[in-house]
Amino acid sequence: MFCIEVMKQNDISSVTVLLDENFGKDRQSKTAYRLRDAVSPLAELCFVVRIEGKLEASLQFWPIEMGEQGAAVDALLLGPIAVSQEYRGQGLGLKLMEHGLNIARKLGHSRVILVGDESYYKKVGFSRKMALHLEMPGPVDKERLLAQELVPGAMQDVKGMISKIK
Ligand SMILES: CC(C)(COP(=O)(O)OP(=O)(O)OC[C@H]1O[C@@H](n2cnc3c(N)ncnc32)[C@H](O)[C@@H]1OP(=O)(O)O)[C@@H](O)C(=O)NCCC(=O)NCCS
Repeated sequence: MFCIEVMKQNDISSVTVLLDENFGKDRQSKTAYRLRDAVSPLAELCFVVRIEGKLEASLQFWPIEMGEQGAAVDALLLGPIAVSQEYRGQGLGLKLMEHGLNIARKLGHSRVILVGDESYYKKVGFSRKMALHLEMPGPVDKERLLAQELVPGAMQDVKGMISKIK
């Protein structure tokens, strides 16, 4: 039994430890982090799971833009998501993402991207097909660039570079 809560300021150090443990301290060298440089995650879309008082999972979303110059649209970057080793494989990651994506939809967001394995993220609605016309601003395995519409049709005609919000 677990409860998903909105991340608080004093959770940040535990989240950093969880992310360093799961992705390594060099995680910020990845291309997805170029979209996060000097941009804050959306506070209302940052979540943690505490079990017996200990922070065991976290999920954040960042605001981004994508599309050709003059036709860029707002979107979300899902991640990082991490679940501690101890609690993996119990559905926590999927529940956390379902929760976050539902709130994002309720808040009026229309589209989300991420970099990850399609075989896992398709379980919460992501596909490679939806991201075929998008480009990341740096090296990335294109097979891992995925997207989903939170509003039907929101990815229609969206193509080009994914970029940091200005
Ligand atoms: C990825 C992660 C968040 C999944 O969390 P979790 O709570 O263990 O996942 P769930 O219990 O919701 O789902 C488990 C299922 O997804 C599968 N799965 C997990 N990671 C997967 C991956 N990268 N690719 C394919 N399938 C994956 C598991 O095999 C399992 O499948 P099953 O139900 O058929 O046995 C967790 O493993 C983690 O923190 N990993 C390290 C950090 C990381 O890689 N984050 C994602 C970066 S893109």
